[in-house]
Amino acid sequence: MDIQTIYQETIKFATAKHLEQNQKIPGTELPYVVHLSNVAMEILIASFNTKEFDPNFAIKVALLHDTLEDTSTSFEELTDLYGIDVAHAVAALTKNSDLPKEERMMDSLGRIKKLNKEVWAVKLADRITNLQRPPAFWDAEKRLKYKKEALLILIELGEGNEYLAQRLKEKIIEYDQYIQE
Ligand code: NI
Repeated sequence: MDIQTIYQETIKFATAKHLEQNQKIPGTELPYVVHLSNVAMEILIASFNTKEFDPNFAIKVALLHDTLEDTSTSFEELTDLYGIDVAHAVAALTKNSDLPKEERMMDSLGRIKKLNKEVWAVKLADRITNLQRPPAFWDAEKRLKYKKEALLILIELGEGNEYLAQRLKEKIIEYDQYIQE
């Protein structure tokens, strides 16, 4: 299947799932699919700038990356529709809600690091996409915490994709303007 068709089919599935609870991008009225499409866009451009990269796999993971965490989608459903590798990738990108909150990111990063570099790339792309103006209701402490978490992602996963690591580095520096305001 060509990547354009994969993109269209996968974004339709993911959009429908996130629409079930009318999920929006926090602090905005934008439907969640805007976030998913931005992550996929980062991945597509990274694929042109990365050797030995499987864009067909990575695009699916990018568009589905929040389905297990935020929607009714099950691991079995992802396995049936997209295969076990995609399901494992999305599971690794999903925080384990049984753990204490402060351990969840490191746990997810540890599971991502056991998988293909495309999965690392999706996590980098996710945070690049999210380092925009934070919701107005986030206080300085929350913003600083978000920056520190981005640095942790860069340190842990940066070597997985040089191109996206550079973009994340730049976004982290730009994000300082929102901490100081
Ligand atoms: Ni995300």
